Amino acid sequence: MNKHAIMYRNLSQEDLIKSGAFSLPMAIDALKRSLIQYRDNEILFPEKIVQVFNEETNERINCLPATLLPEKLCGVKWVSVFPPNPVKYGTQNLSAIITLSSIENGYPVCVMDGTLCSNMRVAAVGALAADLLARQDAESIGFIGAGEQAKMHLLGMKSVRPNLKVCRVAAKTVEDERIFVKSVKPLFPDMEFVVCNTVLEDAIRDSDIIVTATSAQAPLLKPEWIKKGAFYSHVGGYECDYRVIQMADKLVCDDWDVVKHRLSTITRVYKEGLITDSDISGNLVEIFDGSRPGRESDDEFIVFSAAGLSYVDIAIAHDMFRRSEEKDAGTMVALQEKMVFEHENLAEFVEI
Ligand SMILES: NC(=O)c1ccc[n+]([C@@H]2O[C@H](COP(=O)([O-])OP(=O)(O)OC[C@H]3O[C@@H](n4cnc5c(N)ncnc54)[C@H](O)[C@@H]3O)[C@@H](O)[C@H]2O)c1
Repeated sequence: MNKHAIMYRNLSQEDLIKSGAFSLPMAIDALKRSLIQYRDNEILFPEKIVQVFNEETNERINCLPATLLPEKLCGVKWVSVFPPNPVKYGTQNLSAIITLSSIENGYPVCVMDGTLCSNMRVAAVGALAADLLARQDAESIGFIGAGEQAKMHLLGMKSVRPNLKVCRVAAKTVEDERIFVKSVKPLFPDMEFVVCNTVLEDAIRDSDIIVTATSAQAPLLKPEWIKKGAFYSHVGGYECDYRVIQMADKLVCDDWDVVKHRLSTITRVYKEGLITDSDISGNLVEIFDGSRPGRESDDEFIVFSAAGLSYVDIAIAHDMFRRSEEKDAGTMVALQEKMVFEHENLAEFVEI
């Protein structure tokens, strides 16, 4: 091969799944590693670039770079969020592509589907928070919202709390709830699934772990439904009654400085002056590294809210890439076979 050839591995979602890269334990390990690396200034994490195409619907494409210095890898997630897609075309809202480059020579080494990684990251973050903050003996989980994030969250939660036995789900339509059960039941034949026929309260009462992951912007989760000692992972935008945030014994975020500038329920409560910075019990990394306490009693009600930290996507993408590479999965693609002026008969093709 010409020494100027540049090759990269192309990994479709199917390549990733078949090569064993759809692994929640692997994603959680990558998350843990990257939280510590970021704390120790071993990750470069520049500002994201956001391009909004429709202010009303918030259709956008974001460009999210990060560099993992110890892994010598620089990556970027190019992610589109088109909220009208499900209703307008019956297709998914989010799609992403990730490019990884070596920082030894700067060349790209991998282009992969980023939707799987992105969704795994959201679930891994919720799962690590649950591992640190949910009761050890949690046996039941209740979902409001039954979409992609909810499904992936169940996988994450089950990897940190394998004793979960009952899963209740409530969504906007019974159809959404049924699709949820149909998708995840084959993965967990030991679990009991309860479709709540859009009665949100039925999904929440008696649940040790609560997840809201909806496209709604409304106070769906009510404080009076919440069981003593529950852990609540708030995934979407505005999804719970303000009193749920106010009654929490602990409020934990992936990164409060980031969450503070977003549009989640906790941010609204903060902006209305109902909580202050001192009400935040810590960031996920501080609970993980032990510098702040996690759960201190079985009775505490703990809320976790995440804004999403995209350096974690790149850390997970790195591990997915390595695992797929070990299996020689995907397709090797030539970005170039030689340098521009090394091509023969260039005069036949070039326009001057
Ligand atoms: N925190 C993060 O890092 C992060 C990352 C990605 C997505 N998200 C957010 O997670 C949320 C869910 O995303 P998704 O990909 O699962 O969406 P999705 O479109 O796949 O699913 C949305 C779900 O919300 C339910 N829903 C909508 N309105 C409802 C209502 N009034 N009552 C009950 N259920 C209702 C629908 O039935 C559906 O099951 C979105 O708000 C998204 O922006 C957060």
